Amino acid sequence: MAFIVKKKIGGNEYYYLNENKRVDGKVKTKTIAYLGKDKKEAEKKAKDILENRKQSDQKSPKPLDLKEAKPVLKSTEISIEELAVFCKRKGFVYQSGEIYGGLAGFYDYGSLGHQLKKNFENVWRKYFLGLNSNFFEIETSEIMSSNVFVASEHLKNFNDIAAKCKKGHIERVDLLMERYTHKKMDGLSDDEWLNLIKENKAVCSTCKSPIEYVGPINMMFPIQLGVGTATTAYLRPETAQGPYVNFKAEFEVARNKLPLGLALIGRAYRNELSPRNLLLRQRAFTQAELQIFFNPAKIEEHEDFEDVKDYELIVMQSNSRDDGVIKTSCNELAKRIPKFYVYYMARVQQFYLDVLKLEEEKFRFFELNDKEKAFYNKYHFDIEVDLPNLGWTELGGVHYRTDHDLKGHQEISKQNLSVMDEETKERFIPHVVELSFGVDRNFQTLLTFAYFYDKERDNIVLRLNPKLSPVKAAILPIVKKDEFEKISRNIFDTLNKEWKVVQDKSGSIGRRYARNDEVGTPFCITIDGESLKKKDVTIRDRDTKKQTRVKISLLKDILRKLIEETLDFDEI
Ligand code: GAP
Repeated sequence: MAFIVKKKIGGNEYYYLNENKRVDGKVKTKTIAYLGKDKKEAEKKAKDILENRKQSDQKSPKPLDLKEAKPVLKSTEISIEELAVFCKRKGFVYQSGEIYGGLAGFYDYGSLGHQLKKNFENVWRKYFLGLNSNFFEIETSEIMSSNVFVASEHLKNFNDIAAKCKKGHIERVDLLMERYTHKKMDGLSDDEWLNLIKENKAVCSTCKSPIEYVGPINMMFPIQLGVGTATTAYLRPETAQGPYVNFKAEFEVARNKLPLGLALIGRAYRNELSPRNLLLRQRAFTQAELQIFFNPAKIEEHEDFEDVKDYELIVMQSNSRDDGVIKTSCNELAKRIPKFYVYYMARVQQFYLDVLKLEEEKFRFFELNDKEKAFYNKYHFDIEVDLPNLGWTELGGVHYRTDHDLKGHQEISKQNLSVMDEETKERFIPHVVELSFGVDRNFQTLLTFAYFYDKERDNIVLRLNPKLSPVKAAILPIVKKDEFEKISRNIFDTLNKEWKVVQDKSGSIGRRYARNDEVGTPFCITIDGESLKKKDVTIRDRDTKKQTRVKISLLKDILRKLIEETLDFDEI
C-alpha cells in the first residue's frame, strides 16, 4: 500500500511517497518518489504516480520493472514512473489512446515531445550524413512483401524466446532469467533454457505460479493486403530492409560510387512480448539507421582513419567482461576488428560525447559474443548508456552485417545485386556496416539526464542542450500593457520564423521562469520599462539564471550563436 509521508530536514518539510511491501515475511517500507515541499502539489503528484502505475499494471502484460526508486535529488535519479508522470504533465509523451485506457507498448508524442524528438533526429541527420558526401537519406515503405523477410531471414530468426505460466501469462524467458542470474542471457539452446528454468525454480513475474518453456515466437506483425486475397505482407521490424531493397537503384543514382550510405529515419514494428519502461520497449517505435555499403576487399582501410587512430573508445569487450570497461585506442582495437568498422565506432562515440554531451562515465560500447549477437551480424557492439534505476541500457548498435542481406535479396528476387569496382574491374556484392539507433530510447535518455531538481529554485529544470530544447526562447512582457505586448509580438514574429518560441504573458515573472525552466527552454527574454526607452531586452540563461541586456536589433543573431554554442552566455 502506498502513502504520503512528511519528513523534516534542516527545518524544512519534504513530502515522499512511500510503500509497504512484504518481503520474506517482513513488512518493509520503500520510498517510491520525492513529492516536493508543498502538501497540495505532493498529493497531486502522488495521485498521478499511482494512477499511472495502475494503468501500466492493467495495460501492460507486466508491471514496470523497477529497482528501488530513489527520491529525485540529483539530475540522474528519476524513476521511470516519475518520468512518465512528468512526460504526461508537460505534454511530452502520453500512452496512446489513453481515453480508452491505453494500449500496451504504444505511445503518442505531445507537442513538446514531438519537437524534442524532431530536434534529436535533425542533430543525428546533420552529424551522420555529414560524415561523407556520398551518404544520403531515403524514405521507404513501412509495409513490405513477405519475400523481403524470407530473404533477410527475419521470418525464420527474428524471435523472442517465450515462457508461459498456467494462468496463460507469456513473458520473455531471457529477461526473466536475467533477473535470477543477474547476467545477460542470450543465444541459449532449448535444453539450456529448460535447465535454467528448472534449476532456478523460475516463477511467472505476474502471478508467481510455475513457469514453462514455450520456445521461439516470431516478433513480426503480419498484415493482410486487400480484401478476399491471401496476400500477407509485414510491417517492417527494422528500417534497414528499405535501403537494401533499393540499394541497386540508389547506387546507380550515386554514379556507382562506394562507400555509399543510405540513411532512414522511420517507424519499425515489433510484437514485443513484454513492452515496458515507458519508451524503451514499445511495439511501434522510431529508428534512425545508416547502412554503409562498401567493398569488402577494402575493409581494412578507411580514408579518414588517421583522424581517429589515437581516439580512445570506451569498450566492454566480450572477452574481458570481468575486468569491466576498458579504454582502447582505435589503432589498438583495429588489430582485431576491421578498420572500416572501428572508424565508425569512433564517430558514434563522438556523437554521444561531443554532440549530445553525454557524461563519459555513462557511455560504453558492449561487445556481443557469438551467442549473443544478432543473426545477421559478424561483429556487433551495442551502444549503451547507464540509466538511473535501470543500469546499462542499449540505445543502438554498430553492426557488421556482411553481405547477409544483399545476398539474401539477390537469391530470392533473382536480381543481380553485385557491383563492379571501377579500378580493379572486379565484381562483388557489397558488405554493410550498419549504424543503428532507437530514436525513442535516445529521447528518453536525453530527458532522463536533463531532468534536474534544483533545490534552491524548488523546481525542475530540464537542462537540455539548447540545440535539442523543444522551445528555444520564451518572450515575457513584464507588464500587461499595449506597448509591452507590441514589442513582445514583434520579437515573437522575428524569432518564430527560425525557431519554436513562445510568448508567456500570465503569472508572476518568477512563475513564468519556473514554467519555462521545467520544459527546458534555454533562454527567457524579458521586456521591461527600460526596453521601451532603450530598445533592449534582458536575456536570462536557464541553467545559471544569469541575466544580461541586449539590443533588440542584435537579439536574433545573439540567440542563434547561443543555440549553436558558438557564443558563451558570459561573452554576450
Ligand atoms: N537494424 C538493426 C536493428 O534493428 P536492433 O538492435 O534490433 O537492431 C536497433 O534495434 C535499436 O532500435 C535498438 O538498439 C533500440 O534502440 C531500438 N529498439 C529496438 N527494439 C525496440 C523497442 N521494442 N522499443 C523501442 N526501441 C527499440
